[in-house]
Amino acid sequence: MSERTPCDNTKTTLRPMTEADLAMVRVWRNDPAVRQFMFTQHDINAEEHRCWFTGIADDQTKRFLIALVDGTPIGMVSFTHIDATSGSAEWGFYKDPGLPTGTGIHLLQAALVYGFTNLALRQIDSRVLCTNSKVLHLHHKLSFRKDESVAVLQNDCGDAISYCVFHLSREQWTRSANHLTEY
Ligand SMILES: CC(C)(COP(=O)(O)OP(=O)(O)OC[C@H]1O[C@@H](n2cnc3c(N)ncnc32)[C@H](O)[C@@H]1OP(=O)(O)O)[C@@H](O)C(=O)NCCC(=O)NCCS
Repeated sequence: MSERTPCDNTKTTLRPMTEADLAMVRVWRNDPAVRQFMFTQHDINAEEHRCWFTGIADDQTKRFLIALVDGTPIGMVSFTHIDATSGSAEWGFYKDPGLPTGTGIHLLQAALVYGFTNLALRQIDSRVLCTNSKVLHLHHKLSFRKDESVAVLQNDCGDAISYCVFHLSREQWTRSANHLTEY
């Protein structure tokens, strides 16, 4: 088998989110399976969603992307807090909740390729709610390193929620075999 490079993105592709994606993304984002694991957990109405999208349009510290397989959208990936000086950014993601298990790993691997190649990041950071055991597992599987301490913040409902902080350097990612598997 020939060796695949991190840029060898043959199956899952990412493109910038556009206004035409707004309705689809809002349906995904408001689904209980997604929003229970977000820092902002209320139901987002169309006006709020549109304002958010208008607000991020020219923000060079943020990228919102749609992942596709064979042209069909499978999920959303974000890079925020993009810092050109440190070469770091925080990622976020959710899949179309109607899609089967096994979809997520492809979405995440394509997102890492995008972050480390297209955005030329040196480190990807992540914050994961402590209740999100599946995503905690996925971060370990993708070779992220977890901070020792657990952080806490108040969500939009006034509840204290604890989360874990993860980091993945480009070196760690390159060393791991994950980016060579087919996605
Ligand atoms: C995160 C998400 C994209 C994953 O998609 P998915 O299709 O379910 O993921 P996959 O099936 O590819 O992988 C799930 C992995 O977690 C494992 N898993 C499933 N349920 C689990 C659980 N409760 N605890 C621990 N691991 C679990 C699976 O076994 C699989 O691991 P494996 O391949 O090593 O066996 C999707 O669940 C999602 O959109 N979640 C809501 C949004 C979210 O939480 N975003 C992250 C915010 S930080």
